Amino acid sequence: MSILIRSVGVSIPEQRISNEELAARVDTTDEWIRSHTGIGARHVAAEGDQTSDLAARSALDALARAKIAPREIDLIVVATATPDYFGFPSTACVIQEKIGALGCAALDVTAGCTGFIYALDVASSMLEARKGRHALVIGADTLTRITDWSDRSTCVLFGDAAGAAVISRIEEGGRGVLGSVLGAEGGGARALYLEQPARDSTFGRPEQVVPVIRMDGKEVYNFAVKSIAVLVERLLHASMYRLEDFSWIVPHQANARIVQAAAKRLGVPESRFYMNIEEYANTSSASIPLALREMVDKGLLVQGQLVMLVGFGSGLTYGAIAIRW
Ligand code: UT7
Repeated sequence: MSILIRSVGVSIPEQRISNEELAARVDTTDEWIRSHTGIGARHVAAEGDQTSDLAARSALDALARAKIAPREIDLIVVATATPDYFGFPSTACVIQEKIGALGCAALDVTAGCTGFIYALDVASSMLEARKGRHALVIGADTLTRITDWSDRSTCVLFGDAAGAAVISRIEEGGRGVLGSVLGAEGGGARALYLEQPARDSTFGRPEQVVPVIRMDGKEVYNFAVKSIAVLVERLLHASMYRLEDFSWIVPHQANARIVQAAAKRLGVPESRFYMNIEEYANTSSASIPLALREMVDKGLLVQGQLVMLVGFGSGLTYGAIAIRW
């Protein structure tokens, strides 16, 4: 038995903001952003779109590519830090209705930028346990909606997008998801969190004020570099493979410098890490499926190749999954 990734769909907002355009509104420069992060632009969700709209489009794209009808889906797992609703209902339920996958199980996973890895692991494990045959794993975020535009150390980093994978349980073995490592360091929770507006303690209706991202950039940076190296080593330790066997490492796209530092630490050429942060910035849980789809379109993923997905983010969480494509 294997859990196979059949297709990857994406939804990328049309509105694109280059570093130069951002520098006209924020105290920053294209030179600073590029040299410190590798980011050149970001895409921003259209005004009427919610996270579930981007997610639903990416899911329909993935379903069409897999030639699977929405009603054949048994499970939807959505990774998002920017749900349509605070608390409930889950964004997965909203998406379920939007794509017409009525009746299937639907749940959200909260793991920050590691969300897609966590969601893929949860969905794969459920299919492995024979709780369904086909699942949609979606990473969707609209972080520009919770960005503090007066904080130049964070507002230049993020973009909006969604990516979805259709995964299926097949009887033949040796392909698809081979193994995973998930972890968290809860002690670092305050290094990257959503600051909630102060609540009125009276019985009145609470004010509607948007929460914003707060980040200790250096702490997250150091955690990320260490995590990539540790995850790769742990994943290899738990498998029979060597690093040289993997054609690609697909990291969460948070900062090109993080990947460069991790590559150096692991002694792997940077070219083995797939990067597309320049165009999309950090799209949180969407970044890995966005990268995968681009690789599929460019013909970089060949059946039989070993690929490693590596993520890190708020929590602080980290996770990696080995796949035979
Ligand atoms: O998805 C997972 C979550 N996020 C991450 O993985 C991000 C992890 N952290 C990082 O990528 C980096 O820490 C940042 C990109 C956020 C910051 O880079 P840095 O090299 O650590 O910069 P810094 O915070 O040490 O700031 C250096 C200087 C400061 O000026 P002074 O004090 O040296 O005069 C900042 O005020 O750069 C200044 N600065 C900026 N200048 C122009 C900070 N942001 C900007 C900006 N434009 N946007």
